[in-house]
Amino acid sequence: MLFLFLSVITGCAAQGTKQEKLDERVLKFLKANEQQWQNLNVPYEDGQVLHDLIVNNNYQSALEIGTSTGHSTIWIAWALSKTGGKMITIELDEDRQQEAIKNLTSLGLADYVDFKLGDAHQLVKDLKGPFDFIFSDADKDWYIQYFKDIDPKLKKGGRFTAHNVLQNISGIREYMEFIKNQRHYETIIDKSSNSGIAISLKK
Ligand SMILES: C[S@@+](CC[C@H](N)C(=O)[O-])C[C@H]1O[C@@H](n2cnc3c(N)ncnc32)[C@H](O)[C@@H]1O
Repeated sequence: MLFLFLSVITGCAAQGTKQEKLDERVLKFLKANEQQWQNLNVPYEDGQVLHDLIVNNNYQSALEIGTSTGHSTIWIAWALSKTGGKMITIELDEDRQQEAIKNLTSLGLADYVDFKLGDAHQLVKDLKGPFDFIFSDADKDWYIQYFKDIDPKLKKGGRFTAHNVLQNISGIREYMEFIKNQRHYETIIDKSSNSGIAISLKK
């Protein structure tokens, strides 16, 4: 009995240390590379917003559309390491995906991520779900269709987030008009950076 008790205590302490080491490593990397991302990656502030949404709501099943070289993937996977969750991320460009895999692997975050290579237009339709957190950051002209394909697979209380909604990019105005009219969602815009994230809570 005493042995069992000590094993549990020691196990918990080791677990805590493992997460603390991961946190230290990831934060150091994110801070050191804050200004280095060059492949349409999210700004640091937006990564922090995604991370906090997941941790604060204990989300455990995430989907990212548009991995690029993995900046937002790192923030999301890091959050999921704290909630005990997993994510899928989709990218069309193999070189960018390889760079993302390298980044996440070096940080010890790759186990939280299923990297899918291919066209998200089809892959998103094929995913089973359910999800509780979505980050849409690929082709903006397809945002509405991504939402339509994912909505049935998003749990109530889950959030669909879309990037660059404060920017004048083709498809964004139409998406914002569309999402504001979805009566089963409540949408706010996060303005932590000048990119903007539309955060839609499924009621
Ligand atoms: C804005 S970047 C993503 C940035 C990434 N979220 C980050 O913060 O590091 C958009 C990415 O989506 C990819 N993409 C565009 N259309 C796609 C599609 N139909 N299927 C999969 N990926 C796509 C692009 O190759 C690009 O790398």
